[in-house]
This record gives sequence, C-alpha cells and structure tokens, in this order.
Amino acid sequence: MAAALVTNIKQLVNTRTENELLRGEALANLPVINNAFLLIEDGIIADYGTMAEIENRKLKIENTINAAGQFILPAWCDSHTHLVFAASREEEFIDKIKGLSYAEIAAKGGGILNSAKKIEAASEDELFNLAWKRLEEVSKLGTGAIEIKSGYGLTVEGELKMLRVIKKLKERSKLSIKATFLGAHTYPLEYKENHTGYIDLIINEMLPQIAAEKLADYIDVFCETGFFSPEETETICKAGMRYGLKPKIHANQLHLSGGTQTGVKLGAVSVDHLETMDEDAIGILAHSNTIGTLLPTAAFFLRMPFQPARKLIDAGCALALASDYNPGSSPSGNMNLVVAMSCIQMKMLPEEAINAATINGAYAMELEKELGSIMVGKKANLIFTKAIPSLAAIPYYFGTNLIDKVMLSGEWV
Ligand code: NIG
Ligand code: FE
Repeated sequence: MAAALVTNIKQLVNTRTENELLRGEALANLPVINNAFLLIEDGIIADYGTMAEIENRKLKIENTINAAGQFILPAWCDSHTHLVFAASREEEFIDKIKGLSYAEIAAKGGGILNSAKKIEAASEDELFNLAWKRLEEVSKLGTGAIEIKSGYGLTVEGELKMLRVIKKLKERSKLSIKATFLGAHTYPLEYKENHTGYIDLIINEMLPQIAAEKLADYIDVFCETGFFSPEETETICKAGMRYGLKPKIHANQLHLSGGTQTGVKLGAVSVDHLETMDEDAIGILAHSNTIGTLLPTAAFFLRMPFQPARKLIDAGCALALASDYNPGSSPSGNMNLVVAMSCIQMKMLPEEAINAATINGAYAMELEKELGSIMVGKKANLIFTKAIPSLAAIPYYFGTNLIDKVMLSGEWV
C-alpha cells in the first residue's frame, strides 16, 4: 500500500519508544510532540518527529495529509463492553427513575435475565447486524480496539451464539477485538436454587465447546453479592484457565464483594468496575500486576458513587478506563464521555485519563504490542481532532464531538 505522510500536526499525543503499563505518578506522564509529522506505511506507524526533522528524513511521499491545527491521539482502547445484545432496556431505565435499584430490578427478573430472554429469541445474523452497527458507531467516536463479552446467553446454545457473533465481528471488523466468556453473569431462573448445577454446566458443557471452537480469549465472572461468590468465581476462573482463558472479572461494583482479592490471587489481567473499594482491596490491587479498570459511565447511569480513582492512583494501582457499553448499566460506548467523566467526576488529569483509555486499555486487552500509543511498528489507529486549543478541551467540552476523523490500520473510518 502507499505511504501517507501527515504533516503540521499541532500535537502528536502519547508518543513512546517503549511499552510500559502505567501506574501511580507515571500515569500523568503523557509524552507529546508539538508541530509534528507522522509517517504511515501499510497501515503501520513507520516514523514520526517534529516538522523541523522532516528535511533530514528525505521522505518522498505522494499522499500528504495536512493536519494543521489538529491533535492526533492513538484511538481509544475500550477494554470492557457487552456490545452484543438484542434489545435496549428503556423500561428499566424508567423503573430506575421511579426509584427501583439495579438489584431490585434484577430480583424482579429484569436486568441480565431480561436481556437473556431477548438473546434467546434473536438469530445470530440479527445479533451480528445490531453489534456491527454499534461497532460502526463507536469507531466513529474514536474506538479502535474493543473487548466484547458474552453473558446474556446463560445457556449452552445462548453463550455459544453470542461468542460466535463476536468471532464473526473479529473476522470482519477493522477494529481489534477480544472475546470474553461471561457465562457466569447471573444464575438463570431454573438454577436459582442450584448454583452447583449451573457452575457444572459452565465448566463441563460450555467451556469445552468454547475452547474447541476457539471462541474466547478471556473468562469473566460477575463476582457480586447475590450473583457469584469469591469461591464460585475462583472455581469458574480456574476452569477457564485450564483452557488458556485468563480472567478479567467484574469486581466490587455494588458491594465489597471480594472480587478484587480473588482477581489478584488468580493473576487476572484486570478487575473491573471498582465502585465499592476499601483500603484492603486498594492495597492488594496496588501491589499486583492486575489492572483496575474503571467504568465511570456505569456508575453515572446507576447513580452510584464514582470509582475512587485518585486513591487508586495514589496507592500505585495501574488503571484503565472503559465504557462497559451494555443495555443495563451503560447504554453508551462513547469513550470521549468516559474520559470526560473521569476528569470531571473522578478528578483524573486529562493526561491520566488519556493514558488510561489508550496504552493501559491496550494492556487490559494484551494488545500493547500493537496498539495504545504512537510508536513505530504499531497499527495506525488514530484519532484526528477538530481544531482545539489544548488537549484538555477533549474532557472540557464533554458534550461536544471534537473528533474530525478516525483512522484504523491506516484507513479512514
Ligand atoms: O458491567 N454488572 C454486571 N454486568 C453489567 C451490566 C449487565 C446488565 O445490566 O445488563 C455491568 O454493569
Ligand atoms: Fe460489565
């Protein structure tokens, strides 16, 4: 393919020569180059530097893109979503406005079980088409890599159907996609009093087929009071690990569930949510290689206290930010809004939020070798902003779309 030279970039953001999972003070270190150029060859970042350095490079490029006034960032790496679902849940949204809690809605057979009924009735093609539209939507909003979970199937057929849809999305989309098996999202009604029966189904029926068809990269469990206990979480994750699926788990969302401790003990890639944390959970996470993935739009939508980002950063935790795009707790996959909420409500600096939504998000999907920063050899997954005065404008103008164009593997979205 032809090469493209991007010139006059007002600021090239997150330029790195090495990969490093960022924690503590390092999260605020966001390297940039002002008045920069960027060379893309065959969809890969081939070179970059200041405009003054272009002369020395003796580049003869036909295709030049003038990015005067624009900032260029690595595309967002959204490491936690439930993007495959059959229908929205506005009825529950209204119930919540009227005062019901997430747990009360779930207890009424709403919530995850409501989505499971809709998945059962939908065909693989229908689910694929709906998910494809959502992928198109989020890619235009700057997302270039995304993790997608099953977990609305809750039967062998349902979970396999969801994971096959994710596999097809992986094969056809320009976004980099990782698949997570979340059979342990809730107990189906028929197993409400028979937890062992459902866990056996996950371990003995679902996992072997998922492994045989290579349908998942990770295993997830909703470790939460009234859902899966730490012991159940451990049993299920260990079974997944025997098939090579590393854990990425839902932890400490509604209660001090023990999910963080369990995740760290298992060497999970990430523990996600973390709305409800105490000193013990924070300390254990800080002294581990497990990433804490914060989902501020879920806290916002459920009217919960936001995640204690500052405490987590100060303790030395490695943090990523993700959208949790799903019909129950975050019907938005807009990572720009996630970044804005992180700055506004969790007091993260724009630099911290951008690092957490790019390079650390890539780490939370084990994609750091190909994505998440401006580094020679990485994929040209790029956000071109509109003309903005500074990087802080991205979270500052929280309701305005400041993205001009998005490039994935060197091609415009
Ligand atoms: O990440 N908390 C568990 N799972 C999802 C919500 C699922 C749903 O309500 O449909 C979450 O918030
Ligand atoms: Fe989630």
